[in-house]
Amino acid sequence: MNFYGRDFLRILDFSEEELKYMLAMARKFKEMKKAKQNHKYFPEKNIAILFEKTSTRTRCSFEVAGYDLGMGVTYLDPTGSQMGHKESIADTARVLARLYDGIEYRGFDQKIVDELAEYADVPVWNGLTDECHPTQALGDFMTIEEHFGHLKGLTLAFVGDTRNNVANSLMAMSAKMGVNFIACGPVGLRPSDEIIAKCQPIAEKNDCTITVTDDISILDGRADAIYTDVWLSLGEDSEKWGERIELLKPYQVNMDLMQRAKDTAVFLHCLPSFHDLNTSIARDVKEKYGLDEMEVTNEVFESDKSIVFEQAENRMHTIKSVMFLTLWDPSLGKKSLSEKKPG
Ligand code: CP
Ligand code: NVA
Repeated sequence: MNFYGRDFLRILDFSEEELKYMLAMARKFKEMKKAKQNHKYFPEKNIAILFEKTSTRTRCSFEVAGYDLGMGVTYLDPTGSQMGHKESIADTARVLARLYDGIEYRGFDQKIVDELAEYADVPVWNGLTDECHPTQALGDFMTIEEHFGHLKGLTLAFVGDTRNNVANSLMAMSAKMGVNFIACGPVGLRPSDEIIAKCQPIAEKNDCTITVTDDISILDGRADAIYTDVWLSLGEDSEKWGERIELLKPYQVNMDLMQRAKDTAVFLHCLPSFHDLNTSIARDVKEKYGLDEMEVTNEVFESDKSIVFEQAENRMHTIKSVMFLTLWDPSLGKKSLSEKKPG
């Protein structure tokens, strides 16, 4: 396996073994962090993290993981760079690659991060696009594996807007890890035929299934994990709230829906989540459409079935693993990793 110098743009770019290795490395880093063991392997490196959309978890995970590995980190906020307005993606990529050892990008079209990766001769990491959210899926599978002690044979059901970026990456990761994947949502928000066609043969090879349905009874006694996400993603027009609420209300994750799943089922959410009225967006939606809770009820969110904060923490450990593996030069030898004195 060789990760050195590679980009991390989508789950489907990596083999089953490579993804498992990334998860194993993340577990190692989590242990090191808990043991307060120094792992500043890259004091000579710097990274740029470029955000064209807002973020809490992803930004902070890249920053903390970067600092923990000993690196310098520059954050460029949604208005803080010239990219797209005054400078092309290709030029931005070539400039940043001269200054930094790795570049994270969060934004809109997948083509942007693909183009950055094409022109930057340092690793580019996808921190979310309209198409996928691969570091999220990695963190989620670390969390599911920690909880159940294994992955293969489990059933993960994504309930809601099943054609969004998070759902796409979860479908790909499920197929790779031998986890049965259920996309349960309204017909109008089905995953694309293209993503299904890419994941289906991988699932078959790994003895698991992909099911796309609008019928929530599919969850009955079957799902080990129920996952949902916001009904309107970053960058989508707020005018769409009305039609989304109409379409997705039957798929709200409430206790009735949770009870359809196995007794041992857990609840996951990439966050941020609209489970109460403690945000300005939730209050606006309440005023316009009368909803107190959206994709998940507060009861489920706060229940002991919910492992959402473990999930949030694991973003950092998995992102650290991705950065470490793509920045670590194996020609320095395996031995040198343990011999190299961090920091
Ligand atoms: N889950 C996630 O990506 O969260 P942020 O938008 O806060 O980064
Ligand atoms: N689907 C959501 C995920 C946020 C982490 C969005 O794109 O806004």
